[in-house]
Amino acid sequence: MSAPTEGGARRQRVLVFRALPPDQLARLQAAHEVTVADPRQPGQAQAFEAALAQADGLIGSSYPITPDLLARAPRLKVISSISVGVDNYPLAALQQRGILLCHTPGVLTETTADTIFALILATSRRLVELANHVREGHWQRNIGEDLFGRDVHGKTLGLVGFGRIGQALARRAALGFGMPVLYHARRAVDLSAQAPELQGRVRHAPLDEVLAGSDVVALVLPLSEHTRGLMGPREFGLMKPGAIFVNGARGAIVQEAALLQALESGPLWAAGLDVFATEPLPLDSPLRGHPRITALPHIGSATLETRHAMAVLATSNLLQALAGERPQAVYSGAGPVAD
Ligand code: 8YV
Repeated sequence: MSAPTEGGARRQRVLVFRALPPDQLARLQAAHEVTVADPRQPGQAQAFEAALAQADGLIGSSYPITPDLLARAPRLKVISSISVGVDNYPLAALQQRGILLCHTPGVLTETTADTIFALILATSRRLVELANHVREGHWQRNIGEDLFGRDVHGKTLGLVGFGRIGQALARRAALGFGMPVLYHARRAVDLSAQAPELQGRVRHAPLDEVLAGSDVVALVLPLSEHTRGLMGPREFGLMKPGAIFVNGARGAIVQEAALLQALESGPLWAAGLDVFATEPLPLDSPLRGHPRITALPHIGSATLETRHAMAVLATSNLLQALAGERPQAVYSGAGPVAD
């Protein structure tokens, strides 16, 4: 009989498909038989497949776990995603098999809100472009109006989605930059309970009103069958002339051709994108070198502190699930959780 382990579970088989920090890998190895195999890494796809057939638990992120792949994991009891987003997982198939899906909400909220607000500032004030202007030796005289940016303070911020990250963003905007905030979500949020400091500064409104009434529109909602392709020609067409569009959610929520059209022939002045329909962004994508797009490589939660906190939560979720305990953060599965 094997020695009791963290979570008191008998030793089971775990497949790690995205690198974990050493201290979290050690927690797993102390409790279970662990295989580390990232199918995106050269020479690891075979090991991944072999381990998949024996795995009781998976832990990783940003790799599509398809129903086919799931069918090749007959023993699987739990998937622990090192992400808050669950759009890489076949929710219906998981529910059918009774496989638990855990994720990492909360621990990345403030970091992701920082990233999105930084993208709003960088896009509005053309920070990347003008930093390159200096770096490439073009700063020969005071810059002229052709290089001026647009103010952020006091402008109206429109949020599509109003979960934890949306509310954290609204706090930065309303309390730090004096921005009135409009938000669209399936239901109005009881601010008195969830965010009393935002009362009187934030208003729930229909999507069209948020799009038409905002100087800056930011996406902060999950990707699901309900939100895929949500931002198309009609939606961009509703936006204010000179508006700024920011996506800190998922690329597939946006019809990228419609976004390009809105930049070319209005009404958009500029766009800030941290996420794309295809990631990494293909070199030949027209979004990559566009002069009025500030593009980032999906860094929403990418700080040393937050990625470690995500790994800790994901490892705890997995250990608890394999011990038959209720993990800290189970994805409910009852439709997308606004984050
Ligand atoms: C992840 C994210 O780092 O948590 C999410 O949903 O988008 C990021 O925090 C990313 O999914 C991992 O690649």
